[in-house]
Amino acid sequence: VRSHPVLFVLLAAVRRVQVLRLGQTVLVSGAAPVTAALTRLPLDRAAAGTTGGRARELLPGGAFFDQEGASHRRCRRSVADGLSSAGVQRLRPVWLEVLRQRLAPLDRGGVIDMVEVTAELSGATACALLAVDVDPLLVARAAREAAATAARGEMPGLRRAASARAAVRAAAQLTSLLQVPSAEAGVASMLTLAAVTTTVAGIPRAVAWCADGRLWALAGDDGTRPALVDELIRVVAPAPLLPRVAAAAGRVGGHRVRAGDRLMLVVRHAVGAHRRDPDCRDPAPAQLAQLVFGAGPHACPGARLARAQLADVLAALAPHQPVVLAARVDRRAALPGWASLLLTAGKRP
Ligand code: HEM
Repeated sequence: VRSHPVLFVLLAAVRRVQVLRLGQTVLVSGAAPVTAALTRLPLDRAAAGTTGGRARELLPGGAFFDQEGASHRRCRRSVADGLSSAGVQRLRPVWLEVLRQRLAPLDRGGVIDMVEVTAELSGATACALLAVDVDPLLVARAAREAAATAARGEMPGLRRAASARAAVRAAAQLTSLLQVPSAEAGVASMLTLAAVTTTVAGIPRAVAWCADGRLWALAGDDGTRPALVDELIRVVAPAPLLPRVAAAAGRVGGHRVRAGDRLMLVVRHAVGAHRRDPDCRDPAPAQLAQLVFGAGPHACPGARLARAQLADVLAALAPHQPVVLAARVDRRAALPGWASLLLTAGKRP
């Protein structure tokens, strides 16, 4: 709230209305209107201030978010195998090994920082996916820095131009760290950035929710864990707000939208994160919960991987029933999350 006071006022304003126009900005928070905006309304994928616009500013040629048509389909195809169910199974030993090593202190009554653990887990997974041999923590740090500076570049103020230049430098650093052929650099960097920022934001918050809500029994049970994973991702909504721009006139939730209108798609409201706590016995319908990963041709290709990682994190933590010792908000991060989340075992397994 202290980092983004205006944004929080706007989010509060659309808690109960589905669509709200404020000048040229349209806040959209109902599930059906958000889905319609992502699937039926022509969007200007590369407009300034949108995720695609940022992708294009950060990386020469951009990748994924700013693309359309054949080049976008090619880009999606290049990652489809790695993120398929077989691909996720191939990657799984990578993050299981990080968990085996980094959660070991819990056995001895020690303390772990879940943000550091998640950064290593997501960095190692991205490196394995891209088949590069680089320090996973360095990769994760570079990806988080690129995303954080890019988000600061969007804030109004005198330092905007300097922040935008810093964002380009940080993205270039990530690209050079990954050491992939230049033709693949945009895809590799954007994939890493998208994977690391959402995972480092989402997993620690989901873990904190489990600890505070004493949900470890549900997390440890193979029968309830899949529903808990979906519910936690729904309420945490790691990418809570999708900024987009309409490319042509259309209708969203019965409201007229003009070409050039700025759309703030409030995904966290659309999935009811502000209304319903996680409930494994009565989870939100799958189609609604899936909206945290977007919809339509640009829907997140990493959803399967994200769910598998959270499921394994919860299964590994559950026997320890961790409790939160301290949590510090990450004010710089592109997505809402913790800078550190210190956990210790509430119970010896
Ligand atoms: C809980 C974790 C995650 C959440 C909540 C999330 C959410 C999202 C959302 C909302 C979008 C935009 C969809 C749209 O515009 O319709 C997106 C796009 C994307 N995500 Fe994720 N994501 C997560 C994890 C991942 C992971 C682990 C990867 C990669 C391994 C990944 C890779 C991507 C890519 C490449 C895109 C761009 C797709 C395109 O424009 O075609 N994401 N994600």
